[in-house]
Amino acid sequence: MWITLFLAALAAFAVFKVSLISYRRRRYPEPHYDWSQINTDEVSFPQGFHWGTATAAHQVEGSLSNNWTIHEVAKGLEQSGAACDHWNRWKGDFQLLSDLGITSYRCSIEWSRLEPEPGRWDDAALQTYSAMIDELLARNIRPIITLHHFSHPQWWEARGGFTKKENIATFLSYCERVFDALSDRVDTWVTINEPTVFSTMGYGLGMFPPGRRSPRLTLRVMRHLMLAHAKVYHSLKAKRPEVQIGMAKNVTLFDPRNRWSPIDWPLSRLLEWLWNGAWRNGIMKGRMLFAKIPEAKNSLDFIGLNYYTHVLTGLSIVSLRNLNFPKRDQEVATEFGYPMYAEGFRRAIEFLAPLDVPIEITENGVADASDALRPEHLKRHLWVLSQAIKDGYNVRSYHHWSLMDNFEWAEGYSMRFGLYHVDFETQERTLRASGEVYKEIISSN
Ligand code: BGC
Repeated sequence: MWITLFLAALAAFAVFKVSLISYRRRRYPEPHYDWSQINTDEVSFPQGFHWGTATAAHQVEGSLSNNWTIHEVAKGLEQSGAACDHWNRWKGDFQLLSDLGITSYRCSIEWSRLEPEPGRWDDAALQTYSAMIDELLARNIRPIITLHHFSHPQWWEARGGFTKKENIATFLSYCERVFDALSDRVDTWVTINEPTVFSTMGYGLGMFPPGRRSPRLTLRVMRHLMLAHAKVYHSLKAKRPEVQIGMAKNVTLFDPRNRWSPIDWPLSRLLEWLWNGAWRNGIMKGRMLFAKIPEAKNSLDFIGLNYYTHVLTGLSIVSLRNLNFPKRDQEVATEFGYPMYAEGFRRAIEFLAPLDVPIEITENGVADASDALRPEHLKRHLWVLSQAIKDGYNVRSYHHWSLMDNFEWAEGYSMRFGLYHVDFETQERTLRASGEVYKEIISSN
């Protein structure tokens, strides 16, 4: 009798577990393709599709003084220093764009250069940015300008940066000033780069400035970034309704390391919601993380997608602080540690589709100093993108991260993302094999 009952309970438990796993599999699939069966050369892109690369001011320009330079010293990190000396070499670097056949270039403006002290504006610096725009246009390259890509003046950081709602007004004035100077020639703008990365890394994990570890501040900064974006969006749109304004969202997918695990699964759902879902709610509903931000509703003309990977979530997440990511057996780890997972590129696009605005791929790439993986990485992601477009997703551009090796934030110069190798001693740029691959794809599409 007891044995029968025990066996029945065991069987019921097994059935419950199997159906739970299969429900989770159906509802939240994690596809893996058999890449040996896929010809990644078979791609096609629509007429007018933009081929691009992306950079950010603090990572390439050099000789800056901002929240990051302070953080680099305070945390004993490798210092950005001269970076790619792009501030002095931008003309030559734009020739590199033309050599690749690039038609769209995403870069950012360094607020600390323009307003080194509160209220003191460096017009010559703004003139240089303006000359850069002219040069890009003369080369038939569309500029996409990012207004905030992780860095800002230290004096603004000292006032509390995005932790304080009242600071948004200063950020807005900076954005307006840049917009007034450049929007006669720039028609595509990104307000803020990767709000979730900025807030989590700076206020949750403490790896970005200001190096805080406070869940409360992390959530507050997330909300304030959304509010700041919305305010900038409405203000700039009022000036020139015809321009296209968006945000660059890092969509990282969180998949349970073990689908049956009572910890991994709910944890992955929670992180997915915090990282992606709550942000999308902000734009779609004007509500984010238990706060009302009505200005945020529909405050996008396009969405920029930065896609890199999925994170296999489990208790090992605690070691995420060291950026120590697990991977599936069939996956290849990239130099950053996280796996190459091109299948997730499609999922990220699907995730953004309900926003019902065109998608620009504002970043995608891989840290790979030897360039052994980058050609395959590029081809897989472009194949996935080509399929998504064929299936009707409205994706207008692809910007590879990055044009050249540069300062990779907390990782310093150890992570090399460039289509061009940079020798930081001589500042010599050399096209990598993957750069040749990209050039070939651009010219045949
Ligand atoms: C950022 C870039 C960074 C890249 C590679 C993105 O999160 O926007 O600035 O270099 O990822 O890690």
